[in-house]
Amino acid sequence: MDLEARIRELLVQFEADAKSAPDKLRSKYVGREGLLRELFGIVARLPADQKGPAGRRVNEFKAQLESRITQLAAARPVETKPSVDRTLPGSAPEPGRRHPVYRVWDEIVCIFQRLGFDVVYGPEIETEYHNFEALNIPLEHPSRDAFDTFYIEKPVLLRSHTSPVQIRTMKERKPPIRVLAPGKVFRPDKPDAGHSPMFHQVEGLMVGEDVTFAQLKGVLELFAQSMWGVETKIRFRPSFFPFTEPSAEVDVSCFICGAKGCAACKQSGWMEILGSGMVHPKVLENCGIDCEKYTGFAFGMGVERICMLKYGIPDIRLFYENHLGFLRQF
Ligand code: PHE
Repeated sequence: MDLEARIRELLVQFEADAKSAPDKLRSKYVGREGLLRELFGIVARLPADQKGPAGRRVNEFKAQLESRITQLAAARPVETKPSVDRTLPGSAPEPGRRHPVYRVWDEIVCIFQRLGFDVVYGPEIETEYHNFEALNIPLEHPSRDAFDTFYIEKPVLLRSHTSPVQIRTMKERKPPIRVLAPGKVFRPDKPDAGHSPMFHQVEGLMVGEDVTFAQLKGVLELFAQSMWGVETKIRFRPSFFPFTEPSAEVDVSCFICGAKGCAACKQSGWMEILGSGMVHPKVLENCGIDCEKYTGFAFGMGVERICMLKYGIPDIRLFYENHLGFLRQF
């Protein structure tokens, strides 16, 4: 076998392998078990006078391949394993925090607990009876329309307000009753800046022998002043709810502009916060409470609305989108 011809073949084979890892090339060609051993075999079989030059030629070829391998190794891209710096301080998990809606929920609950109200809860899945009928909402009343209530399967529905908890409480307890019922409510409204298909309400109910509208005013004034400051004023506007008579909507003086008129209160100086009234005698009777002997007041407010007014939040949908940038502000 012609030595030079074999060297040329090996060189061609080597260059075809040039992309392999340098360690692989080294062991395949110049290592102890490498292909170059074959060349030393050829040299060994040559006549004595040719061995010297041929041996030098093979050693030269070996050196050529070794320097080529070194060159290829240097040209390889550095391996980029992600490196971990174990001396860096760790990133601590960020503690969660109370959602703004529940911060305000807690605040409302605390204020009424100080006034002696018990916190009670009712089911979110309700019946037409508790959500409407017992509350004196007649069949033809528009809020009974399927458009205003999520029905599961008649007569089962998702409660559209917390007022059914009034019914459950009055059927369970004897007067005097003083309860606060916070919870989720559901209405099939198209979501926009002011509407959400689910939101939170807080219902208040007080029933006793001498419960009067004046007490309702006193309790709500105390609430408003605890929530927004002692300067806060409230006003009552006549309104209508089937389950209260008389009924009133309650506004608080705008605490952003001090009732002077600003964008938040639409220049009126007032912001609406809740619906209220004296419990309708029919509702008391529906719950087996003697309406000759007892009277009561009730009120219901939207927690998101109070929270938006308190923090100047312009869109109710922000509460449910869970953007950390929003939630971290509270
Ligand atoms: N349930 C009424 C609503 O959702 C609010 C309300 C509660 C009004 C209690 C009067 C008394 O709009």
